[in-house]
Amino acid sequence: MATSILRILCVALLGKEASGVNVAIPLIAPSTAPRVSPSLFSFSIEQDRWTDWAGSTSRNQFLFNTLDNLARLTGAPPDIRIGANSEDHTKFKAAIQTTQSSLLGMRFIRQLNFFHLTLTLYGFVQEWTYFATNISAAMGISSTSHTKFWGVAFAGAQSSHSLTGWSPQSAFKEGLLNSAAGSLISTVSQHHYSGSFCSGNAGLLQDLMTKSTIRANLSLYLPDIAATRGRGLDYVLGETNSYSCHGAPGVSNSADAALWRLDYALYATQIGISKVFFHQGVGFKYNHIQPATLTRSTADGSDLPWPLPPHVQPAYYGAIT
Ligand SMILES: *[C@@H]1O[C@H](CO)[C@@H](O)[C@H](O)[C@H]1NC(C)=O
Ligand SMILES: *[C@@H]1O[C@H](CO)[C@@H](O)[C@H](O)[C@H]1NC(C)=O
Repeated sequence: MATSILRILCVALLGKEASGVNVAIPLIAPSTAPRVSPSLFSFSIEQDRWTDWAGSTSRNQFLFNTLDNLARLTGAPPDIRIGANSEDHTKFKAAIQTTQSSLLGMRFIRQLNFFHLTLTLYGFVQEWTYFATNISAAMGISSTSHTKFWGVAFAGAQSSHSLTGWSPQSAFKEGLLNSAAGSLISTVSQHHYSGSFCSGNAGLLQDLMTKSTIRANLSLYLPDIAATRGRGLDYVLGETNSYSCHGAPGVSNSADAALWRLDYALYATQIGISKVFFHQGVGFKYNHIQPATLTRSTADGSDLPWPLPPHVQPAYYGAIT
C-alpha cells in the first residue's frame, strides 16, 4: 500500500531536545475502515428548552447560522433528539411546529417517556408495544415510511450488558422486536456520561482526558452494540456528554473538552456507534452552542453584570475540527 511519511517534530518527554518521529500514514483508507456519518456530532436537547433553541414565533437565526456552519463543513446538519428529563413535564403545542420545519431540513427524534420505577423489562416491552402500535397507526409509520422508531433509550443506570437486567439484548429477549411495531425499530439508543457532577464534586480534567478512560467508557457497550448490529439495527448514543448535571466547571466548558469529544466521537465510530448525540440545554457548561441570551453565570448560577448574547462554547470546536 502506498504510504507517505510525515515527519513530526515533538519534544521528547524525558530529554530536553526536540527529536523527529516518523509516522506512516496510508494514503488510502483500509477497506475495513468504518464510514463516519456527516452527522456524527449530533445534538440531544432538553425538551423544555427546545423553543429557546429553535425560536417559538420565528427562527432563532443564531442557531440556524451555527448549525448551517456545521452542515457546510460536514455535508449534513446534525440530527436533533428532543427529550431528556424535561420530557416528563412538557406538553405538546401544535403551533410550535412551524419553526422546526424551517431548520435546514434536519432529522428530528422525538422521545416519549413512559418509564415508571416499578416496571420490569417485560412490562416495559409490553407497554412500549402498546404505545408504538397506536403511534404507528396515528402517524403512518410503516415498513415503507421514512420515519421509524428508536428503541431502548435506557437512561441513567448503566446497561447490564447481558441477557439479564436492563440492556438491549435483554429487551430483544423479551420480544421488543417481535411485534409489528417492534419491526419498525431502526435504531437502538443508549445514554452515557463519563461521570457525574450532580453532587457537586469537581470532575477532574485529567481523568476526563485520559485516553484509556475515554475509550473504556465506550468499550463498555461492545456487547450491546454487537447484539444490536447482529439484528441489523443502527446503534447510537442518544444522550451523552462529559459530566451529567450540565457539566463540571473548568472541565466541560474548557478547550480540552473540545479535544475530549473529538476523541470520544471518533472512537465511537471505530466500535460501531454511528452517531453521538451530545446533550445540550440553555446555560449548560458542556453545551456546544448557547442559543439564547444568558443572564446568569454558567459556572455558578450567579447573576451576570450584563446579559451575555448567544455564543458558541469550546465544545463547538470539537465538532468543526
Ligand atoms: C390505542 O388504540 C386502541 C385501538 O385503536 C384504542 O382502543 C386505545 O384507546 C388506544 N390507546 C391510547 C392510549 O390511545
Ligand atoms: C469514564 O471516564 C471517567 C473520567 O471521565 C472515569 O473516571 C471512569 O473511570 C471511566 N469509566 C470507565 C469504565 O473507564
